[in-house]
Amino acid sequence: MNETLDRWTTRRAFILAVTGAAVGLGNIWRFPYMTGENGGSAFLLLYVAFVLLLGLPVMMAEILVGRAGRRSPSQSLAHLAMSAGRSPHWRWLGLFGALTVFLILSFYSVVSGWSIEYLIEALNGDFVALTPPEVGGMFDSFLADPLRMTFNHTVFMLLTMAVVAGGVSNGLEKLNNLLMPMLYLLLIVLAGYAATTDGFGPALAWLFTPNPAAITVEVVLNAMGHAFFTLAVGACALMAYGAYMPDHQSLPRAAVAVASLDVLVALLAGIAIFSVVFSQGMDPAEGPGLMFVTLPIAFAELPGGSVWLAIFFLLLLLATWTSSINLAEPMVAGLQGLGLKRGQAAAIVGVSVWALGLLSVLSFSTMKDVDWIGGMNFFELVTTIPTDLFLPVGGLLIAIFAAWVMSRDTALRALDAGPNGFRVWQFLVRYVSIPLVVVVLASGLI
Ligand code: PHE
Ligand code: NA
Repeated sequence: MNETLDRWTTRRAFILAVTGAAVGLGNIWRFPYMTGENGGSAFLLLYVAFVLLLGLPVMMAEILVGRAGRRSPSQSLAHLAMSAGRSPHWRWLGLFGALTVFLILSFYSVVSGWSIEYLIEALNGDFVALTPPEVGGMFDSFLADPLRMTFNHTVFMLLTMAVVAGGVSNGLEKLNNLLMPMLYLLLIVLAGYAATTDGFGPALAWLFTPNPAAITVEVVLNAMGHAFFTLAVGACALMAYGAYMPDHQSLPRAAVAVASLDVLVALLAGIAIFSVVFSQGMDPAEGPGLMFVTLPIAFAELPGGSVWLAIFFLLLLLATWTSSINLAEPMVAGLQGLGLKRGQAAAIVGVSVWALGLLSVLSFSTMKDVDWIGGMNFFELVTTIPTDLFLPVGGLLIAIFAAWVMSRDTALRALDAGPNGFRVWQFLVRYVSIPLVVVVLASGLI
């Protein structure tokens, strides 16, 4: 714990750690396919609105609680509640967060495993000279192979838990900070290349021409869930990081920096991917495979395509690795709070998440048509409910806690944005974010 404290004593280091948690599959894999399935510009507009009105203020609330408590999420919640004369039962919110990240990490690892597969295939030159339908066929046959998928999922879980157990995230973070700009650069190059294709105009139109007719309750719910997911907000995962935030750093400024970068990365990925979709006449609503069938096609057009494709998946893997470490952290911290050693806690978390992930693996083959609830197979269920329901509910409770429950002075100090900044934040959380989540969730339930 102390190592971590030392590690983040600079402001920059804290922002980079939170960026590591935020930027991941949510931006490059989930954002494009959700946009494709939810009416394009309608989804994008709502998602940006939710980032501004909900994601950002609640992200500040979440980090603020961790920073004020300087303990694990559950302990911080209980401690701050009691010092404000409120019930220590708030600690259960930390447990709810742990349940949420448990479910999310189980599929996050499986999908990150797809990147491992693609990295290996790209290095093998397997994508060279493939036609777009052949790329799709290759992806489908990979999904239909539970053993290969399990192998990659296992490798990814081992990578994650090794870092979490060994506390070597210091080194990984340094590597990440060095290499992430390259991922952004590669996305800029891809988007730049996309600008030279016929699909570029239609892609921009699909993303940016207002289309209010496409807005449905489902699209609104999905956009809200995605705003939480992509910013890593609502599961007390950032709360755990907030505990290590240095003194004398404006929390709003840090949050705005992270969120802007997060949105920018998603936009670049979206532009690159939808340009391929429209120049190839593909279906934007292709689903979770969207990125995996479009990017090999895009890279194939570039000189040295296979090498760049391999580099891209390597960088994406690094990005998802730092996110998965953040996903695992609240569970490991929670078990440590119950008296387990860090290594034991990591082993228990790793094995249980891995086992649950097998259900996602099988959702593409033997369990594809098993209806868990509402016609969804397991993968569809686990990629929907925790994100669209649990993260907003968790975020709502965190917001209530920070803006109504804990003491005003403690919150004011932890936000570190002066009395006026605090007033703006508190007003936003109390009268915009909280009612907005309630209204959207309520209309979703009806
Ligand atoms: N924000 C991460 C991403 O976009 C996912 C994540 C969700 C991480 C919740 C931590 C907590 O990939
Ligand atoms: Na993200």
